[in-house]
Amino acid sequence: MLIVFEGTDGSGLTTQSRLITEWLREKGYRVHLTKEPTTGVIGRLIREILRKEVRVTPQTLALLFAADRAEHTREIREWTEKGEIVISDRYRLSSFAYQSLNLDLDWIVAINAHSIAPDLTFVLETPAEVSLERIKRRNSENELFEDVDKLKRISENFRKAVKAGVEDNVIFIDGNRSIEEVFEEIKAEIEGRILPDGCDQDRRQSEVVNP
Ligand code: TYD
Repeated sequence: MLIVFEGTDGSGLTTQSRLITEWLREKGYRVHLTKEPTTGVIGRLIREILRKEVRVTPQTLALLFAADRAEHTREIREWTEKGEIVISDRYRLSSFAYQSLNLDLDWIVAINAHSIAPDLTFVLETPAEVSLERIKRRNSENELFEDVDKLKRISENFRKAVKAGVEDNVIFIDGNRSIEEVFEEIKAEIEGRILPDGCDQDRRQSEVVNP
């Protein structure tokens, strides 16, 4: 099972993906938390570009994200085959929303054709001004996409991409609330939609036998 957290920079996806990972582990599931850009060789190059140390065309950046994802996808398959739930802090919907600032969505979808369709994708939505405040507070180094106008357009692009039908099973979450409130809503969605009965069932049964 693959669950993905998406949103603009500063929308809280890293915090929520960590909380959900801990919560699922406490429930007895084996969970692998991962993120994009990865820490691999292509991910490291991407970070240099995000910090504006290297300049490349939007096409090159989109291809690098897709290449980083191709390596990541191979790992995700291995983890899921081992029976782990994989939680990814960003995946292909980030490319659909961010890279479509400059590029045609169909082409971005095409170069990501070998990625996995996530079982569930959460998109955290936070007003651009709030996101920018949060980004400033944590001294982020990713300068490339961090201005109010771009954040607004990226936020719209998440909705446009989903409307265009390039990703299914997407849930938009109001991220402009406390960490706890957002966490509660995401937990409820996961419980209601995709958690297999197995683990919980065992727990409930043992609770009945040994109250
Ligand atoms: P981010 O999650 O902010 O990384 P970190 O928390 O390590 O600083 O992601 C880095 C940036 O890359 C962010 O601005 C979103 C952007 N991005 C894309 O433009 N396309 C993609 O496909 C991905 C995965 C990220």
